[in-house]
Amino acid sequence: PLSRSLSMTSLSGVLPAWEEDELPVEDLLLFEVAWEVTNKVGGIYTVIQTKAKITVDEWGENYYMMGPYFEQNFKTQVEGCEPPNPAIRKAMDALIHNGCQVHFGRWLIEGSPYVILFDIGSAAWNLDRWKGDLWQTCSIGLPYHDREANDSLILGSLIAWFFKELTDNLGDKPNVIGHFHEWQAGAGLILSRSRKIPMATVFTTHATLLGRYLCAGNADFYNNLDKFNIDKEAGERQIYHRYCLERAAVHCAHVFTTVSQITAVEANHMLHRKPDVVTPNGLNVKKFSAMHEFQNLHSTSKIRIQEFVRGHFYGHLDFNLEKTLFFFIAGRYEFSNKGADIFLESLSRLNYLLRVHRNDVTVVVFFIMPAKTNNFNVESLKGQAVRKQLWDTAHTVKEKFGKKLYDALLTGTIPDMNSILDRDDFTIMKRAIYATQRHSLPPVTTHNMLDDSTDPILSNVRRIGLFNSRNDRVKIIFHPEFLSSTSPLLPMDYEDFVRGCNLGVFPSYYEPWGYTPGECTVMGIPSVTTNLSGFGCFMEEHVSDPAAYGIYIVDRRFRSPEESCNQLTQFMFSFCQQSRRQRIIQRNRTERLSDLLDWRYLGRFYIHARHLALSRAFPEKFKMDPMAPLKTEGFRYPRPYSVPPSPSASLHSTPHHSDVEDDDDESYDEDEEAERDRLNIKAPFALGAMPEGKKK
Ligand code: UDP
Ligand code: G6P
Ligand code: GLC
Repeated sequence: PLSRSLSMTSLSGVLPAWEEDELPVEDLLLFEVAWEVTNKVGGIYTVIQTKAKITVDEWGENYYMMGPYFEQNFKTQVEGCEPPNPAIRKAMDALIHNGCQVHFGRWLIEGSPYVILFDIGSAAWNLDRWKGDLWQTCSIGLPYHDREANDSLILGSLIAWFFKELTDNLGDKPNVIGHFHEWQAGAGLILSRSRKIPMATVFTTHATLLGRYLCAGNADFYNNLDKFNIDKEAGERQIYHRYCLERAAVHCAHVFTTVSQITAVEANHMLHRKPDVVTPNGLNVKKFSAMHEFQNLHSTSKIRIQEFVRGHFYGHLDFNLEKTLFFFIAGRYEFSNKGADIFLESLSRLNYLLRVHRNDVTVVVFFIMPAKTNNFNVESLKGQAVRKQLWDTAHTVKEKFGKKLYDALLTGTIPDMNSILDRDDFTIMKRAIYATQRHSLPPVTTHNMLDDSTDPILSNVRRIGLFNSRNDRVKIIFHPEFLSSTSPLLPMDYEDFVRGCNLGVFPSYYEPWGYTPGECTVMGIPSVTTNLSGFGCFMEEHVSDPAAYGIYIVDRRFRSPEESCNQLTQFMFSFCQQSRRQRIIQRNRTERLSDLLDWRYLGRFYIHARHLALSRAFPEKFKMDPMAPLKTEGFRYPRPYSVPPSPSASLHSTPHHSDVEDDDDESYDEDEEAERDRLNIKAPFALGAMPEGKKK
């Protein structure tokens, strides 16, 4: 059945080929299970959501995602419909007739995949019985107060039940693959396997529970991977039961995968199984037909951020917005795991450097990390209102001025500029200016924080004294909520916001993958990452001179925190010294790496994992050479042609041009540079090779 070979299409012409046989998807059903299906929490949502398109292209009507049902999410993201497959309808009905609610529809994202969503609340009355089943099956007991673990058991029990009904209905064709993500989906896998349901299973972990906890707790994690007494550590953190669910799922799966090499090593120690396949995270990369479209988008988004900054800093706008750079960090609020600690420390050093070097650059830094708040604060809202009022005033006076000028020109005269505006006009303008006086500094945070005095970002801002005073060259804005285009304060989607910034800074200590810098890359925005993040290691492996491409990798592995801080400071300071022209060139390079992060390329690892799972679950039917290597190892983007060889590997290599710098000269031939770089890239393997797949 695995005899058909792939039809090959070229993605970029530079990435290595892929020769795995295509699966006979018409004889298979693929189910992908995750807590974050239609339910945004963090990066796993991004995996599921961005991968949908290529999976639907390959699997068409045979692909289903499964997760928890939340009314609000269903109403806003899903179009309800009937399942196309009668066996699925029947399996759902079996649950529904027993009092458990199951919903079906198309998720309104690119690819419009089918989703089956299970209502946890409607089935909660079974919890005690299902806890008993879990205990009987594998001696894992869940405490009553852990709501998250209890919910994951309810979801898992419903899903295992669904698979039992489904496979009973199907007989031995088509075969079923269940791909489960993260421990919250693990119970479904454990129960399906223990009940011997005939299906191939894959488990992907996006982190280990213990890794996340140990790192957040300041352990010297990477130097002691083999020394932790993991049972004891889990017990002390009161996550022993969750860790058991995670570890059981890992060991029950036919194929175990994780998102990066570094997490593979971690999983081997924390979960005692070496992942069979590393499945790096991709993105659904949109290519613009015009080469410079993403540069234009940067420009328009940046103008919107500038508007916000005008309002936020009203009365203190004594810095030049044309020479202001926007940096940001974003993600779930895990202060030290996400590296916000060393970021703040480095910002205080950057502030010092910019001041002593009398640099005229100002850096406005955004922290986008959700925390508990009690809505926007008055001062931030007022800032935007004041800005709006100034705009309206300017507009009114402009209209009046224009009309008088026009009338004068019609009579053949040039009006007396000193009297064209009357006293009232000046009064309005003066009042508007008076309204911009403020007696406090522009606020550091945009919201009323519930834990203001203990909040780690705010506490550290107080310690380093970065309060947005006039002398500071580094200004801080903490926005403790994910961005949204419907916000009255900063009405921008996250994507538009990223496009408008100059540098994303993600100096994580614990980061199995880390989508945020990858998202910057595909939008052509340079970013800072680390050699402790899956993304950073992946880039180090596949790009010869990452910094030249706008990927700055802080060494947090072999250096002390103090040294890492200095390195990060140096990256940011050098970035501030680039001219606009250099930044434009660098953005072009950054964007060129996006093919490497495209699911059309990285999706191959998922294909491989499914293939392997089938060959293990149904060895008679699905054969596969277990030693067949994945043909991407060793591939590297060479350093860009236009970067001179530099002896320094640790310092960043900004684009250097020997000509005299003209800050606003954007006229160099970007296409020519791109073409030279492209010719310089020699693929180590045959060109092209993306599975074209089965279109819906
Ligand atoms: N993100 C978002 N809105 C925001 C800030 C971040 O949707 O305002 C998303 C971002 O696009 C990214 C995800 O949050 O996909 C964070 O994923 P990452 O893998 O970096 O970290 P995780 O939170 O999973 O640890
Ligand atoms: C893009 C636009 C240019 C603009 C530049 C600003 O490249 O096409 O018109 O000048 O962005 O770049 P900067 O790095 O200063 O934000
Ligand atoms: C987890 C990890 C993050 C990764 C994401 C998606 O939340 O913390 O690093 O990017 O999963 O795999």
